[in-house]
Amino acid sequence: MKLQIFPDAEGLALGAAEFIFETLSKAAAHAGSASIALSGGSTPARTYKELAELSHRRDLDWRHVKVYWGDERCVAADDPQSNFHMARATLLDLISIPRQNLYHMACEDDPETGAWRYEQILRSHFPDQAFPQFDLILLGLGDDGHTASLFPDTQILNERERWVAPVYVPRLDSWRISLTLPAINAASTVAFLVSGEAKASILKETLEASGPPTHPAQKVEAQGELHWLIDESAGRLLEKPHP
Ligand code: 6PG
Repeated sequence: MKLQIFPDAEGLALGAAEFIFETLSKAAAHAGSASIALSGGSTPARTYKELAELSHRRDLDWRHVKVYWGDERCVAADDPQSNFHMARATLLDLISIPRQNLYHMACEDDPETGAWRYEQILRSHFPDQAFPQFDLILLGLGDDGHTASLFPDTQILNERERWVAPVYVPRLDSWRISLTLPAINAASTVAFLVSGEAKASILKETLEASGPPTHPAQKVEAQGELHWLIDESAGRLLEKPHP
């Protein structure tokens, strides 16, 4: 696990954009194409905007990047709650990326069907793999320790076969679909982006609590590299030296 602490939210956005840019560039140079699963929520928005800016200053051929989502709310694609909508507004509509490279997690009609369909797309893109090996998965951290749409006490946390599953979130009274834990953990690189004072307590619990995992974010291990990109406010309560 590698922890990078940036001075503030702006520094985190710039640093995370650079990290994503470098990770995608290396993957595309190595394999001819790169795959990224975007996170939703509010934290990544600044990073996505900085990534769009960076893409105009440095060379990344987005034609060789396939964009997926780690989870999605089961709402229309133009709904302000949609992670797809947020990513388009802050990044995807600001860069030259072919529309066919964007794989929206559509589930507003029916979460189960949406999850099944998305899994079929992933299985066609990652054939002969036990789970999809994304080059990079971006994740956030909720104040209850959820990540993607892996919320505490939800059935999806026990899923060991499916790559994508529907999840009803009681506290939000809403349906989502999400990559499952084994699908997330199969990634080459997983990067959490965590910003702000409000996340300090759950971040300390996630990174420094001893004993078995008590919430979903602690169960993310990543086959490859696990990175935590945070700002000083979010890291305010951290005590142990982290590599
Ligand atoms: C979502 C995300 C979710 C998010 C956390 C943190 O769809 O909302 O997948 O896991 O990353 O809830 O959200 P903030 O960045 O808004 O704090």
